[in-house]
Amino acid sequence: MSLNNKENYYITTPIYYINDKPHIGHFYCTAAADILARYHRIIGDDVYFVTGTDENSQKTVEAAEKIDKSVKEFTDEMAANWENTWKKLNISFDKFIRTTSQEHKDSVKKLLQKCYDNGDIYKKEYEGLYCVGCEKFLTQSELTEDGKCPVHKTKPQKVKEENYFFRLSKYEKQLLELFENKDFALPEERKNEMLGFIKQGLKDISISRATVKWGIPLPIDETQVVYVWFDALINYITALGYYNDSEMMEKFWPNAIHLVGKDIFRFHTIMWPAMLLSAGLTPPKQVFGHGFFTINGEKISKSLKNVINPIELSNRYGIDAIRYFIMREIPFGKDSDFSVKRLEERYKGDLADVLGNLLNRALNMVDKYNNSIIPEPIHELHNHKEEYKKLERDAIDLLTKIDNRYKNFEFSQLLIELWDYIKSINKFIEDIKPWELNKKKLEDELNTVLFDILQALKIIALYIYPFMPQISQKIYNQLGLDADIEKENYKEAVKWFSLEPGKKVGKKDILFPQLEEVKDTMEETKKDENIVTIDEFKKFDLRVAEVLEAERIEKSEKLLKLKINIGDEERTLVAGLAKYYKPEEMIGKKIIVIKNLKPAKLFGVESKGMLLAASNENGELALLTPEKDISPGAKIS
Ligand code: MSP
Repeated sequence: MSLNNKENYYITTPIYYINDKPHIGHFYCTAAADILARYHRIIGDDVYFVTGTDENSQKTVEAAEKIDKSVKEFTDEMAANWENTWKKLNISFDKFIRTTSQEHKDSVKKLLQKCYDNGDIYKKEYEGLYCVGCEKFLTQSELTEDGKCPVHKTKPQKVKEENYFFRLSKYEKQLLELFENKDFALPEERKNEMLGFIKQGLKDISISRATVKWGIPLPIDETQVVYVWFDALINYITALGYYNDSEMMEKFWPNAIHLVGKDIFRFHTIMWPAMLLSAGLTPPKQVFGHGFFTINGEKISKSLKNVINPIELSNRYGIDAIRYFIMREIPFGKDSDFSVKRLEERYKGDLADVLGNLLNRALNMVDKYNNSIIPEPIHELHNHKEEYKKLERDAIDLLTKIDNRYKNFEFSQLLIELWDYIKSINKFIEDIKPWELNKKKLEDELNTVLFDILQALKIIALYIYPFMPQISQKIYNQLGLDADIEKENYKEAVKWFSLEPGKKVGKKDILFPQLEEVKDTMEETKKDENIVTIDEFKKFDLRVAEVLEAERIEKSEKLLKLKINIGDEERTLVAGLAKYYKPEEMIGKKIIVIKNLKPAKLFGVESKGMLLAASNENGELALLTPEKDISPGAKIS
């Protein structure tokens, strides 16, 4: 990567498991990749940015079964949900990859066959403890005292089967050589951890499952499916068309930068390069393992139910403010607790008070002193007045400083330096006091100062663009620049005097609305989430119904199809009762149903309404029925 030579830049995020919904931890990595992609695009590199979903996991099957959906239906819905979430959050990915796609299946088969042909895959009986949450075998020493997975707090499954193994041990030496390249695995402390792990001696790994049905069949033995990690890692080359020798492979591989969380760093720095070496390909250029957002010190995860939803956050604060906050708050390699209080402090301070105010002040002065027209600066004056010239020098210095920060994934440092510059412009205004220049009628000086401030703001907009693409465009427009900022010629546009005098500035638009308003909406949302009004409750049309017929739904272990009499009509309803009631037990029962629920199709059967039942954590379930006999159709209120 460089400011001077155009490069082919390939950036990836991990592909996400779809049983989970996107949370702030996922957004963290995806936003970082988006920031790098946008930076490289704006400096003129040829960028390819890939994200996607990891769908061939046992977790997928379990999650689908839980809600009585076919796995295919579930994966399609969830993958669409992930893709749409990233679109809503303004993530500029070029390709969204799914591991259930044909192209990916073809890639996996191709690579695995190459490893096999190279003598790196063999069959062996294996016994181990498998954590479905982690999708990996855990050793006894990795478990908690009571024998549970430390991350998911669940007992791993005992697995004993005949699997195919990959000769990871064969690649020890080549991996050590790879790690000699100081840029391959970052940050340093995580790299050292990996080096330590390799030096202890690598064991071959199981890469297939005999008892699992959902997944990609092995080309060498179709009775087994490929281990989800072996499958998932290959996405990075599927996305470049490895399966059909696409030119994209030529162009972007091995120039890849993989951003991953620290928990999956080992898969990416050890297993993945070994797989590639075995298949005759070069390992990726770089893997960066970032830290974790925690809540009260615990990893954010669905199983721990402390998820923070990035869409909800961005509805309250704006996407760009969230991007700024998460990248500013934690040095990229480190962990940190997520705190809404800290977010609000930064929103109010760094964003509204420092950046928002600077723009406001600058525009107000142009309105007042120069009829909203960008003034003509006196170049000589600018060049000879140290205070004026310093604004230019600091801005130009930042160009290479920023570039280096990106190179080293030092986003937080980069933003600190950038904000120091923004603060220095505010200070410049206070020191120079343009209002006094105006009073003294020092027109040349006033014009030059105003121009310099606006020019600095233009450069700031360009510098913050990768982090805050919408805010930077807003700044551009308010400076009277109608260019699409992402299409700007960066190196030209960040030059001093690139701003055109004589043009009118744009319409004012607050960058960061006041925090009080934001807080109010937050509290309102909270109220909304927890409390329903009586009017809202009245919307539910609850009725007594009588079960007339009941039968099991083929292909589903949980569902019963019921025909019910709801007073004025008979209708079909599907309910997850099969584990608790035999169909014949249901006939004649009086139940409570929501009559006006939107119909839904389950396993091809249209279900109209929903019955009510009580359940507890021990897996017991009881139907709700009227305490006395009462005719079907009776209203419940
Ligand atoms: N499917 C695998 C990745 C396969 S890549 C070939 C996976 N998926 S995941 O959905 O569980 O996690 C995806 C990424 O999100 C990982 O990099 C993980 O580190 C990251 N994060 C999950 N929770 C996180 C936080 N609380 N904070 C920061 N990142 C976190 O693993």
